[in-house]
Amino acid sequence: MTNSNSRNEPVRYEVEGPVALITIDAPPVNALSAEVRIGIFASLARAAESQSVEAIVVTGGGRAFSAGADIREFGRTPCSPTLRELLQAVEDSPKPVVAAIQGVALGGGLELALAAHYRIAETSARCGFPEVRLGLLPGAGGTQRLPRIVGVAKALEMIVGGGQIGAAEALAIGLVDEIAEERQLGPSAIRLAARVSQLGGVPRKVRDRQDKLDKVKSDPEIFERFRAANAKRLRGALSPDHCIRAIQAAVLLPFEVGMARERALFDLLLADSQSAALRYLFFSERQVGRSDADGSEANPRSVRRVAVIGAGTMGGGIAMAFANAAIPVTLVDAEAAALDRGLAIIRRNYEASAAKGKLTPAQIEERLARIVPSLRLADVVEADLVIEAVFEDLAVKRDLFAQLDALARDDAILATNTSYLDVAEIGGGTARPERVIGLHFFSPAHVMKLLEIVRTARTAPAVVVTAAKLARTIGKVGIVVGNGYGFVGNRMLAVRDREANRLVLEGASTGDVDRLLYDFGFPMGHFQMRDLVGLDVGWKRETSSASTVREILNEMGRHGQKAGAGYYDYDAQRRPTPSPLVAGLIEDFSAASGITRRPVGDTEILDRLLLAMVNEGANILEEGIATRASDVDLVWVTGYGWPRHRGGPMFWADQLGLAEVVRRLRARADRHGKEFEPSPLLERLVAEGRSLTGAPRPAASAPLKEEKPCTAS
Ligand code: CAA
Repeated sequence: MTNSNSRNEPVRYEVEGPVALITIDAPPVNALSAEVRIGIFASLARAAESQSVEAIVVTGGGRAFSAGADIREFGRTPCSPTLRELLQAVEDSPKPVVAAIQGVALGGGLELALAAHYRIAETSARCGFPEVRLGLLPGAGGTQRLPRIVGVAKALEMIVGGGQIGAAEALAIGLVDEIAEERQLGPSAIRLAARVSQLGGVPRKVRDRQDKLDKVKSDPEIFERFRAANAKRLRGALSPDHCIRAIQAAVLLPFEVGMARERALFDLLLADSQSAALRYLFFSERQVGRSDADGSEANPRSVRRVAVIGAGTMGGGIAMAFANAAIPVTLVDAEAAALDRGLAIIRRNYEASAAKGKLTPAQIEERLARIVPSLRLADVVEADLVIEAVFEDLAVKRDLFAQLDALARDDAILATNTSYLDVAEIGGGTARPERVIGLHFFSPAHVMKLLEIVRTARTAPAVVVTAAKLARTIGKVGIVVGNGYGFVGNRMLAVRDREANRLVLEGASTGDVDRLLYDFGFPMGHFQMRDLVGLDVGWKRETSSASTVREILNEMGRHGQKAGAGYYDYDAQRRPTPSPLVAGLIEDFSAASGITRRPVGDTEILDRLLLAMVNEGANILEEGIATRASDVDLVWVTGYGWPRHRGGPMFWADQLGLAEVVRRLRARADRHGKEFEPSPLLERLVAEGRSLTGAPRPAASAPLKEEKPCTAS
């Protein structure tokens, strides 16, 4: 093979016999940055000019064919060749081009492969269009070429769904022409290229394929059916609808006109705040756990075995989270019946996953075998990490920690899954406060992505780093937070709860509050969420004194969804209907509290619910309970259903403009009390002309990092 490249170039050009091999070598993921595009473009020209080259293979070095356009370039001034121009050159190449896919071909990377004339993929390769997760659509011909090759139904599923498919499926649906054995991709692709070059003539182009589009012309309803079937999933987000429209254009319009339509729709999305929010979250998620621990120098310790105390819903879910990541767990409960019940629920959960095709029977048994039940607290002795998930009561937890301190190995980390309590106090009686930490999982713990990692003033940096690494290992977004009441998530939820309760006493209905939050994009409203979690969480009959509406509901046995009644009435399918009884009860409670009810407008409801949260988030930052505004946002997006396309409460506040936020908070403070007085952090940022997240307003048209002259599309 001849090679005439200098080192460190993002694209290599080599020749083997009659085949030119163009390799993208731009770690970590071969994003199609300006340098890469220029390199591929120049290599194509070189291959075209060469007398000896008859066919071309484009491939990727390292772990990806290509992860697509360089997301950091969005919003900058485009430079030539744009991705579209490059793909045009690939498709128009007079010599056949074979895309040889290893690792992932995503977004613009898959579009590059679709512009090639043939595609071959290694068995472990994966393909997909994740643009929708960034609030975008495939903007370099993906929406026009994919349906031509795999048909409209599959294109809708791939582009609007944003998931990935494996090589075998790609072959089955015609997305790739051949599969190569592992580590045989290079030679196989070169053989394929040499073979197709023998065919002569103009290479076949995906753009010229019409057969699969024609099929849909007799079924124009396919798009409306898809919209209707996915209505819930598509709610509130702009890009899925634009993806559908672009694919529709592929069916209805000639290729070039369809391309123009795709471009126009892409530009609209790129300029919108939803895409800015989703790109912000993409980078924020990747920042999590880095240099958080104010001990980034510290080395994480290895956690080979975990013990979980308490086999209830939370303990069982936590045990599953570790078993799923191949970490053995000892699940301890004092009562045999509770342990049996917990294990039965774990098995049921796994079987439900298997019924959805997510696990095989063998995998269920493998995971269950990693969870060893025990009735003896002393069995924690084998664990590197012990997590308690018992009743939320300070005295109970303190007592348990004292026992664990005596039983666990000296170097073991002791963690509490408390959701509100003071972690330092829980571990205060132990001889190892530096190895005490909070690990606040969210229910169901094997599903929910969020993990609040609570460090106390005495938690050792190495312990924080260990927890952060462990969070990644078990697939969680582990946000390091300080030890204050409710940490980040529940502290902000508490202010929303305060305002929601006040609003219904002042005259709003629970339905108004819930409708507005749902329309904002939350999966459910505040009172529906309360009913789902259970109104009796943290409630004790012995101390209940009808002092709040919630206490009264609990005293009536209306504990929420599971009881068939809470703020709402529920039918057998757990569908809510407003309860006239609860409405009356709230009115009576208003009267008894001396509150004169009045009509409360939608703006006031949303302002009070959401701005109160923004203000509390700013206080949390000011107090150092959270390190970064993006951490606050990730807590709410991953743990509490804040709509991703709105970026999180801090990002949303930046989009409103902090000056406007402060103005509205002051107005609310005048009417509704000092709780709305703007956080000193907000006041300071406004005075300095800065934002919470660093994102300018509007963020969509601005670069996320330093300005460079070129952009990808
Ligand atoms: N552009 C720029 N940087 C990217 C990137 C991209 N497309 N994809 C990944 N990266 C960066 C990440 O930010 C990260 O950088 P840091 O190490 O500095 O944080 C690094 O690459 C590694 O990424 P991950 O930590 O995510 O690594 P992973 O192995 O867990 O996942 C991946 C790899 C599956 C490729 C994942 O990064 C991913 O899903 N990337 C996004 C892919 C994507 O959305 N592509 C579409 C782009 S838009 C497009 O192409 C539009 C168009 O049509 C023109």
